[in-house]
Amino acid sequence: MNRREKEPIAIFGAGWVGLVTGACFAELGHEVTVRDIVPEKVEKLRAGGVSFFEPGLAELVERNRERLRFTLDAAEAAQAAELLFVCVDTPPTYSGDADLSRVWTVIDELPSLDRRAILVMKSTVPVGTGEKVRAALETRGLSHIGYVSNPEFLAEGGAVRDFLNPDRVVVGAFADADGDRVAALYEGMNAPVVRADIASAEMIKLAANAFLATRISFINEIANVCEATGADVVRVAEGVGLDHRLGPHFLRAGVGYGGSCFPKDTSALKQLASNSGYHFQLLSAVIEVNELQKRRVIKKLEKHLGRLRGKTIALLGLAFKANTDDMREAPSIVLASRLLAEGAHVRAYDPVADAGDIVRGMSSCESMADAVRGADAAVIVTEWDEFRSLLTDEIRDSMSRPLVVDGRNLLDPEAAASAGFTYEGIGRGVSALEALPETAERDTEFAE
Ligand SMILES: NC(=O)c1ccc[n+]([C@@H]2O[C@H](COP(=O)([O-])OP(=O)(O)OC[C@H]3O[C@@H](n4cnc5c(N)ncnc54)[C@H](O)[C@@H]3O)[C@@H](O)[C@H]2O)c1
Repeated sequence: MNRREKEPIAIFGAGWVGLVTGACFAELGHEVTVRDIVPEKVEKLRAGGVSFFEPGLAELVERNRERLRFTLDAAEAAQAAELLFVCVDTPPTYSGDADLSRVWTVIDELPSLDRRAILVMKSTVPVGTGEKVRAALETRGLSHIGYVSNPEFLAEGGAVRDFLNPDRVVVGAFADADGDRVAALYEGMNAPVVRADIASAEMIKLAANAFLATRISFINEIANVCEATGADVVRVAEGVGLDHRLGPHFLRAGVGYGGSCFPKDTSALKQLASNSGYHFQLLSAVIEVNELQKRRVIKKLEKHLGRLRGKTIALLGLAFKANTDDMREAPSIVLASRLLAEGAHVRAYDPVADAGDIVRGMSSCESMADAVRGADAAVIVTEWDEFRSLLTDEIRDSMSRPLVVDGRNLLDPEAAASAGFTYEGIGRGVSALEALPETAERDTEFAE
């Protein structure tokens, strides 16, 4: 296909992946129809709004309004296009496997198209899904519909940039011609295109996320050993990351990974292996390390505050990372729940994310200053830029104790000390588990 030729495209799912994919393809000149099942989402999109926070996305949707249509009607979307992108959510089930029910609904709702079309899977799915979808299409008498696996690698917070400047485009196809047609959509993006069989394309996505999660758990383990031995993980990561064989990315120690992808995709890959008779030991450890990492902040607080019952803890940041309002699997949820279970009062502030009633008993604040006022400690949970300005005299004086637990290593420990704060980072050379220092006030009130 000539790269200037425009394709009519349908997108199923107006979430992070679907809306970004739709808006970006519209930006590239294609006619796009986006279908979702949530009436409020579709109404809001029709009225020019976007129901979640993703930098640049609302502007992109607005700019391409002429080429973007939104509908609740699956048949309308499918009839309007020859390339049908599946971008629905594939959340984890109780067993840890991926829940493909929304994918199957899309297949079930496809009208009996009387022309050739290609179903393009962008949702993250277990290896083997393409084969199953192929069989389901045959059963439905839709053998003239092709199938291509085209996993998405965008990261929330920079989703539009990532989509338009991908590191690579992965295209797995049963028929080369179908793969060519999908690959052609990305021409001009200057990205290598990896052509593969369907199973390998599906595995590339799962392996990439598992590898990124492994790097995070790895550097968190190094951070924990740094705390026990007096090294500084920030310097260590810098020195390690300059090795061209390793690179600097995903080597920031912190409170663990969260979000809608890493936890579910690592779990889905672990279960996929296990269902296939293989015990993926390394990945099991990566997941366990991450769970433990979220809880280590409690020990750091206890080191300075003693028992946490009755203490007021300010959580700075709720979203699983900066520049998003996505709360799915955010470490803040585990942290807040643990603090509440210890009897602490928890006050939280996030510039955009709203915890709603995910954590009952936590109060929400309108600003960083509100959250920390009178608090016994401030915990940086999300690496929002705004929290870099924490170290002021006003903030210090407004706190009951000027204790900062920096769960993202956002601040400079020396600057924090000079500003009169007691500072605890992650892996910054001081053992969180060591005995209480002489000067720390012990909480004897509730001592057993
Ligand atoms: N969020 C990310 O950063 C990211 C990155 C890469 C890949 N992925 C993968 O992409 C997929 C989508 O993720 P997301 O974060 O965009 O999810 P999301 O929850 O933000 O959006 C999914 C949307 O699909 C809609 N939907 C559900 N059933 C539908 C149906 N039958 N027809 C049309 N719409 C339907 C939902 O209402 C929702 O709006 C997942 O498999 C995810 O793992 C996500």
